[in-house]
Amino acid sequence: MAYIAPSILSADFANLERDIHNIEQNGGDWVHVDVMDGLFVPNITIGIPVVRAIRRVTGLPLDVHLMIREPIRYVRQFAQAGADWLCIHIEADTPQNNLACLEQIRALGCKSAIALKPGTAAEEAIPYLEMCGMILVMTVEPGFGGQKFMADMMPKLAKLRRMLGNVNPGCLLEVDGGVDAITHQACKDSGADVLVTGSAYFKAADRAAFVRLIQG
Ligand code: DX5
Ligand code: ZN
Repeated sequence: MAYIAPSILSADFANLERDIHNIEQNGGDWVHVDVMDGLFVPNITIGIPVVRAIRRVTGLPLDVHLMIREPIRYVRQFAQAGADWLCIHIEADTPQNNLACLEQIRALGCKSAIALKPGTAAEEAIPYLEMCGMILVMTVEPGFGGQKFMADMMPKLAKLRRMLGNVNPGCLLEVDGGVDAITHQACKDSGADVLVTGSAYFKAADRAAFVRLIQG
């Protein structure tokens, strides 16, 4: 069993409400929101006002993936906009600021998560293991949807599951990038609890069936 978090990066931004209601109707668990600043990643997407607008039209948990430098500057505003999960990249600031940021996310009443780029080793997560409710393992370089799944990230996923062991056994593991009807299985086999899927979900001929496949 896994949760599916369709990424609205592949939605029709002129019809976001329609596409989010479609995620609800098809049985999606969360809505994954990719925030990019053009600095941490070479792309710019959406920000605080869009999260606030989405919050008004859905009761699904909003899984906000912050691909921005020094996210501590903005977590309060994203929390106030209605994010449920706030996920920061540990490469985006110093360890000291990252810890303070995770603390702040929790104090704001949100669930805290960290994300690891493909080149970031599992061991880099050690200082944060007790401070997060979820760890996101990127299986593409962050920045764009529709890239090829990096199967060589699976040992990192399994290693994180082992590392969480007695330290934080309830911590969820999330995979993001190139997850589709084939690659989802390897993620689950390696311990993933939450699967983000952008292009594969929005391109699926039968989205409800795709959701069930990923969840099952
Ligand atoms: C990429 C984003 C992903 C993206 C995934 O930087 O973090 O969430 O939407 O898209 P697919 O599933 O198409 O790889
Ligand atoms: Zn994402």
